[in-house]
Amino acid sequence: MAIGPLVRGMLGPLERPISELYRSIFVDLTALVNQVKQWVDASKILEVGCGEGAVTERLVKTYPHAEITGIDITPKVGRMFQEDLTRVNFKQQTIKDFIAENSSQFDLLLISDVMHHVPPQMHEDLLTDAKDALKPGGWLVLKDWERSKTPIHLLCYLLDRYITGDRVRYKSADEFRDLIRDVFGKNCIKAEKRIRPWSNNIAFLIQV
Ligand SMILES: C[S@@+](CC[C@H](N)C(=O)[O-])C[C@H]1O[C@@H](n2cnc3c(N)ncnc32)[C@H](O)[C@@H]1O
Repeated sequence: MAIGPLVRGMLGPLERPISELYRSIFVDLTALVNQVKQWVDASKILEVGCGEGAVTERLVKTYPHAEITGIDITPKVGRMFQEDLTRVNFKQQTIKDFIAENSSQFDLLLISDVMHHVPPQMHEDLLTDAKDALKPGGWLVLKDWERSKTPIHLLCYLLDRYITGDRVRYKSADEFRDLIRDVFGKNCIKAEKRIRPWSNNIAFLIQV
């Protein structure tokens, strides 16, 4: 059962500020994108699972010369995006279909808070497709929420589970490291960073 769409539909013009506020309780997306920029400069960026465009907006501001593509399986892809659209392209598409026509194209690929919405048996495939979208030597930043035995994790789980209706499942940092190394190789993780305000937010910098 997903109550999110129902509640959001009732918010009208308050939907956007309330969505931003809600998200900021769990993660500072501006700090995330600033960290990505500190790690990697890029002129062609792909965001997989961009949702309604909260991270994409920050990418557009932080990378003023980059061409940015956001893909997601949701029909609401890019719906809340309010920045300049001239350098941005949103597509409702799976990454598999997308890379069939766009392999080895991107310098940087970002996946933010998507993996816990994807069934674990699909994780390896998704990351393999992400690898194929990147140019040789390109960068993937994988950001997710690490599970923990804390009240904030319980709150995050309950809200994610019942607002989105998805059967969310969170990995530990070690499970992420194992998955990443299985797909990209032993020495592919070049950096890791916890993103405020909660240490559950972990971002990995991975080189192809
Ligand atoms: C919590 S939202 C994150 C949106 C955005 N990345 C952000 O951080 O604001 C999770 C998104 O993952 C998307 N998603 C779930 N499974 C996916 C898949 N297999 N491929 C692409 N996107 C997917 C959902 O549609 C949803 O938009």
